[in-house]
Amino acid sequence: MTPFLWGAATSPHQTEGNNLNSDWWELENMEGAILPERSGDALDSYHRYREEMELLAAAGLNAYRFGVEWARIEPEPGQFSLAALAHYRRMIETAMSLGLTPVVTLHHFSNPRWFAAEGAWGRSDAVDLFTRYVERTCDILDGVEWVCTINEPNMLAIMDKVRKLLAGPDGFEALAAGMPGPDEEIGKVLVEVHRAAVDVVRERTDAAVGWTIAQQAFQAAGPEHEEVLRRTNWVWEDLYLEASRGDDFVGSQSYTSQLVGPDGPIPHPASPDNTITGWAYRPDALGIAVRHAWEVTGGVPVLVTENGIATDDDARRIAYTDAALGHLRDAMADGVDVRGYLHWSAVDNYEWGHWAPTFGLIAVDRETFVRTPKPSLAWLGEVARSGRP
Ligand code: BGC
Repeated sequence: MTPFLWGAATSPHQTEGNNLNSDWWELENMEGAILPERSGDALDSYHRYREEMELLAAAGLNAYRFGVEWARIEPEPGQFSLAALAHYRRMIETAMSLGLTPVVTLHHFSNPRWFAAEGAWGRSDAVDLFTRYVERTCDILDGVEWVCTINEPNMLAIMDKVRKLLAGPDGFEALAAGMPGPDEEIGKVLVEVHRAAVDVVRERTDAAVGWTIAQQAFQAAGPEHEEVLRRTNWVWEDLYLEASRGDDFVGSQSYTSQLVGPDGPIPHPASPDNTITGWAYRPDALGIAVRHAWEVTGGVPVLVTENGIATDDDARRIAYTDAALGHLRDAMADGVDVRGYLHWSAVDNYEWGHWAPTFGLIAVDRETFVRTPKPSLAWLGEVARSGRP
């Protein structure tokens, strides 16, 4: 039995810097940009990845979840960069040499520009194109034990809706009214994409394979809203959790819990307790989320692939995580098979449009790129050294 994974997570676009060929770079840099801040050099992790890995390993963690970037590996359709593949192979080997089990994500929100330009997941050849990319990427996965195909397909299905809204005449007004829910049709395409990717990973590697789902830990605001809750859960996460049946694991990602009323999810009420992202402070979300994943998947082992808090106050990060782990332990005691806990995030990274929400166990000076571990890293390392949660 592999040891319980104790680690932290990042994604390529949020850390590497200069991800020039991706649709996110394009979005950040477009005329009249809608995003307040750009990723730019990010944390220069493309060159400095070893530094964060060394810090995680030295603290006592045994796993690191990171991604490979499709836009770098396949800069033009069908043109694969051997140099980019070699780069990610080096990352995998570096992690292994430091005693960190790599958990490799194949897609984390960003697409190659050429893929997005023709409609991204709405294009008819989306499944074939992603499969071709996964086939090539499997060449560098020798010895990797954990592979996540797509990060948060349910959030991708929201992004797709946003993209369509922005292309329309009243896009900005429509968005000002609030973020839409996931597009169910795109969600179904992503399920197909995932299933095809799972087959490829299984054929070509020995890794356990699954995908990672954003979980809102929804709860009904009153007993009369149970039906809306059921429907909301379906559109937001159960479609994706059900598609995990038969996978080797399901990645659970939760940060907060949200109430559902007659019209669906109720925005988090303003409160001094809210985190920098405006989310309610709810460490119990982790317990709700893993139990829900376990139930809807019909007993697929759960790997916590993200959980954390955007805060400037590291003591609050420790308190949140400590409480969240308590809820995780309770769920495990009740029979949920949990294989590991990967904190989001290893580093203070680019939070999709802005830098203010700091989720990291490690702070990074964005001018000198010096990494400084926070007390929460040593704390989590201590928890890890103590064994199972
Ligand atoms: C994503 C991360 C993101 C985090 C915090 C998840 O939605 O996978 O990329 O930074 O949550 O918002």
